[in-house]
Amino acid sequence: MKALVTGGCGFIGSHLANYLEEKGHRVKVADIKTISECYLPLKVDKIIQADLRKFNACDYATRDVDWVFNLSANMGGIGFITKVGAEVMHDNALINVNMMEACRQNGVKRIFFSSSACIYPAYRQTTPEVEPLKEEYAVPAQPDSFYGWEKLFTEQLMKAYSRDYGVDIRVARFHNIYGHHGTYKGGREKAPASLCRKVAEVTDGGAITIWGDGKQTRSFLYIDDSLDAIYKLMQSDCTEPLNIGSDELISIDELADLIIKISGKKIKKQYDLAKPQGVRGRNADLNLIKSVLNWEPKTTYREGLTKTYKWIAEMVREGQEK
Ligand SMILES: NC(=O)c1ccc[n+]([C@@H]2O[C@H](COP(=O)([O-])OP(=O)(O)OC[C@H]3O[C@@H](n4cnc5c(N)ncnc54)[C@H](O)[C@@H]3O)[C@@H](O)[C@H]2O)c1
Repeated sequence: MKALVTGGCGFIGSHLANYLEEKGHRVKVADIKTISECYLPLKVDKIIQADLRKFNACDYATRDVDWVFNLSANMGGIGFITKVGAEVMHDNALINVNMMEACRQNGVKRIFFSSSACIYPAYRQTTPEVEPLKEEYAVPAQPDSFYGWEKLFTEQLMKAYSRDYGVDIRVARFHNIYGHHGTYKGGREKAPASLCRKVAEVTDGGAITIWGDGKQTRSFLYIDDSLDAIYKLMQSDCTEPLNIGSDELISIDELADLIIKISGKKIKKQYDLAKPQGVRGRNADLNLIKSVLNWEPKTTYREGLTKTYKWIAEMVREGQEK
């Protein structure tokens, strides 16, 4: 297949682009970033620097491709999506509306969209011992962020294009994908990368600050596992949104403890209750994806976080030496 990965200089996009190339597909990447800003060396056919908020750029990028993986988004971790609303909705709506229309006009055979666990209603995520989120819980809708509302809008946009124009769609709701070669500093990083960086930066015997009281829970999926799931979903005939995540709940405190253990340092934890912590608990229900794709996560937190920590610690060391 000739595949386009948008957001292909980003964390998931860059891993996915190389993965598809290794599977024998011809891969083109489009991103507003330049290749030098991409952490992972890309082994793809073509890289286009393009602002996909603009229709002309989407039109150019989607010519002569069979599959589109639309991962481009203006996004970040809890700090970023709590603070930035208008820009996130504006940019991502433009990207997704224009990508969808360009795919239709250029006769793209199948389009994949990276939705998010952030579409799920806040009222189902009020305790740390939260019930795993089933796909059907998306409505009645009450996402806790503008970012989540935009993802929900785009899911509906895709449904409309599928119904009215017969566009072939695949939708994944990612639940906290983590791993090496992703954003780990600058304010857009997510909890696992942020904690790895804090632990890597501090000297033995020092302290790190955790946002909130640390009792909030999440589940995290290692990048390699997510790639297998995306690929299986794209090859399947499932046109309904599917959770791609882990169902192993862990508190942010436990996550920090594990990273500290992996680092081999002795580190104290402090808590900043004024910082945003998002919903109180969030977990993925994987029953649907298990039955439809026969997929489940393989990588343990210890394995995934060891690889992630090793890379981030290396980046921090290199940064300190400069
Ligand atoms: N990482 C996660 O845990 C997670 C969870 C849920 C959903 N998602 C979704 O998965 C996708 C990939 O996430 P990620 O973690 O790799 O994020 P990322 O920020 O690393 O990658 C997004 C990429 O999109 C690019 N981009 C932004 N605006 C653009 C524009 N106007 N034109 C072209 N490219 C643009 C960015 O430069 C970046 O490289 C996003 O759609 C995100 O919302 C990710």
